[in-house]
Amino acid sequence: MTTFSVTGGRPLRGRITVPGDKSISHRALILAALAEGTSIVRGLSDGDDVARTRAAVEAMGATFDGDKIAGGRSRLHEPGDVLDMGNSGTGIRLLAGLCAGFPWLTVLTGDASIRRRPMSRVAEPLRVMGAKVDGRDEGRLPPLAVRGGSLQGIDYDLPVPSAQVKSAVLLAGLSAAGETVVRQPVVTRAHTEEMLRACGADVETSDDGLDVRLRPSPLEPFELDVPGDPSQAAFWIVAGCIVPGSEVIVDDVYIGPARTGFLDVLRRMGADVELVGARTIRARYSPDLEGTGVRAEEIAGLVDEIPALAVAGAVAAGYTGFADVAELRVKESDRVDTIIEGLAAVGATARYDDEGLHVRGGETLRGGNVHSHWDHRIAMAMAVAGLAAAGTTVIDGWEAVATSYPGFEGDLEVLCGS
Ligand code: S3P
Repeated sequence: MTTFSVTGGRPLRGRITVPGDKSISHRALILAALAEGTSIVRGLSDGDDVARTRAAVEAMGATFDGDKIAGGRSRLHEPGDVLDMGNSGTGIRLLAGLCAGFPWLTVLTGDASIRRRPMSRVAEPLRVMGAKVDGRDEGRLPPLAVRGGSLQGIDYDLPVPSAQVKSAVLLAGLSAAGETVVRQPVVTRAHTEEMLRACGADVETSDDGLDVRLRPSPLEPFELDVPGDPSQAAFWIVAGCIVPGSEVIVDDVYIGPARTGFLDVLRRMGADVELVGARTIRARYSPDLEGTGVRAEEIAGLVDEIPALAVAGAVAAGYTGFADVAELRVKESDRVDTIIEGLAAVGATARYDDEGLHVRGGETLRGGNVHSHWDHRIAMAMAVAGLAAAGTTVIDGWEAVATSYPGFEGDLEVLCGS
């Protein structure tokens, strides 16, 4: 097991870029595999999750030459082996949608965390569209076996606000007869529809952003520079706000629907965070943070940033609450439990009740020993807590960070060394 130690007391100062957006990277690989011809994709996320999706589309016949990806329906074929998606929920769910449209058997599995995560949310609509999807626990858990084939379009009300489910249904819809409509309870990240549009697909989003309508259409190859991942930027932005003397600038970050809710929440807390260019975020130390209530309908737009925001809540005055955190329970770890445990280990207090997750603010973090529970975002949020703590924080299970941000330590050195 790998351990990482952080000692507080050093300001973060400087300018960095973060890895290519993970959500966009998965989709770029899948859409390039489907598009007829050669796409060019630069700046993919260098984490293990995205490497798994790359290996999966290669196993189905897409070929890679540097930044060039050659794809097309006639190239793709049944994978010769089980696809091991590692820790990646986005990878397994989006690939289930992609594979549902092809007349093959695809078996998708992953690590112990993935094998605990709910797959009914994708299996059910894919079955309605005509795919056979089975798995452990009566089809609810991976390994998942998807036997695809001739699909019918669907008009689907998402039961959970999940961009992964929306995307799986849209990817299946590309191969279905007739129109596919996905209706969302709140707006979730819109990368799939944005990127499908860039490939010339016949896809429309309603004015309120909630309903996405797709008619099956061939995809054209595309060229893309993957922008930086706002969910990774969030760790540095929160650190910039809570570590005395800091000023952090993160360049080239994706700014778009359902990805920047964390900035709104930080501003509401009184943080000195600003968009100082179309894709540049600046954060400065903000000594007078105050807790805030994050409403249920805001959660989808900052779901991956809650571990980092909870750390900001711990040092702000008063309470910071997150309503309706049910989805946190089914992430890479049960993040309600792992946030509460992690904060307790560094000297802060959070609790969960029927109304959500509540973080008690005004704490002087002392640091301590924490475990990532093999969850990259818990590990990085605890590193941020460690930077703001008086003592040393030791994070066990640090290797989880490699799923999304292998260069985290290097970027920390850049910010703390300059
Ligand atoms: C993602 C959607 C979100 C997010 C995940 C990435 C995506 O999951 O938590 O990290 O790329 O579509 P849900 O769809 O389960 O909310």
